[in-house]
Amino acid sequence: MTEQSNAQLLKIEDLTVEFHLDDLVVHAVDGVDLEINEGEIVAVVGESGSGKTVTAMSILRLLREPPARVKAATLAFRGQDLQALSPRQLRAIRGGPVGMIFQDPMTALNPVLSIGDQIAETVLLHQAKRDKKAARARAVELLQLVGVPDAAHRAKQYPHEFSGGMRQRAMIAMAIANDPDLIIADEPTTALDVTIQAQVLQLLQKAQRETGAATILITHDLGIVAEMADRVVVMYAGRVVETATVHELFEQPRHPYTLGLLASLPRMDTETDRLDPIPGNPPNMAAPPAGCPFHPRCSLAQGICKTDRPPLLQIGGGRASACHFHEELAS
Ligand SMILES: Nc1ncnc2c1ncn2[C@@H]1O[C@H](COP(=O)(O)OP(=O)(O)OP(=O)(O)O)[C@@H](O)[C@H]1O
Ligand code: SF4
Ligand SMILES: [Mg+2]
Repeated sequence: MTEQSNAQLLKIEDLTVEFHLDDLVVHAVDGVDLEINEGEIVAVVGESGSGKTVTAMSILRLLREPPARVKAATLAFRGQDLQALSPRQLRAIRGGPVGMIFQDPMTALNPVLSIGDQIAETVLLHQAKRDKKAARARAVELLQLVGVPDAAHRAKQYPHEFSGGMRQRAMIAMAIANDPDLIIADEPTTALDVTIQAQVLQLLQKAQRETGAATILITHDLGIVAEMADRVVVMYAGRVVETATVHELFEQPRHPYTLGLLASLPRMDTETDRLDPIPGNPPNMAAPPAGCPFHPRCSLAQGICKTDRPPLLQIGGGRASACHFHEELAS
């Protein structure tokens, strides 16, 4: 966990992303609000298809448009309107003040360029003062920093010569190469062996501490959330349904969906490791249900839930919930 300062770094208001396909429209993200303060680690959780990746990709406009259509009332980084930037200006932010780490580094790395050259390229793109030689030396230094053994030699190798864990280390090196203010990490350890996951997470924590960067950490793993994050954003069906500090969220969830997520965690304190998954499946985002999108699966649903969409309301103490019955959940 980090010391939090309150200066706002990223502000997203009413983000909507639709995918316009031949015969249907997928409402992938539907009115997301998200604020990230300097230095804080915010976990984004939610079942598969809830819109976590699409939200993260929208920030620096990484989605292919079309088929994506991205709209937001506000999309601001350090007060700068990201929607007004040219592709070139956006590229200057990526890998500079905003570092990105993806689940599968193979898709983000260039297969025909050595790892060292790729990191050096990132350095050169953002630090005009350095020459090629200095940038290469910096790349080796960064590989050392992220725990790649024999970094000078490994820097000359290509992505396919690296193991999954090592590739993810190289991605982290690239993300922190220019001392970012924000790191966006989308399931950075999901594709790795369990034994490697812990190492890469520790490294991510170290990178976060050393750069002091705020971090958006997308993960399925509530254990990782508990260990790393300051605050949690819970997404369901393309919306934010709850936000709270990690402690509050685990102590007293204020949305039935969060309650369901927590109940499906393996229990450490009992003999059984039986899970209670949330019944049913997330909705088809090409035809989302009216009212609260969680109502077909919610044991607390009432009539109003089928017709009226609950807005994400501030419920005090910096928390927010999008449930008509959030007060009942408090008791
Ligand atoms: N290029 C695309 N074309 C059409 N639909 C898409 C596209 N990319 C994402 N979607 C849809 O948008 C919705 C949100 O997807 P997203 O990848 O953000 O989910 P996620 O929360 O990241 O899930 P996961 O945990 O599986 O990574 C899903 O319904 C998905 O099928
Ligand atoms: S609004 Fe209704 S259906 Fe939605 S989570 Fe709350 S109780 Fe359940
Ligand atoms: Mg995803």
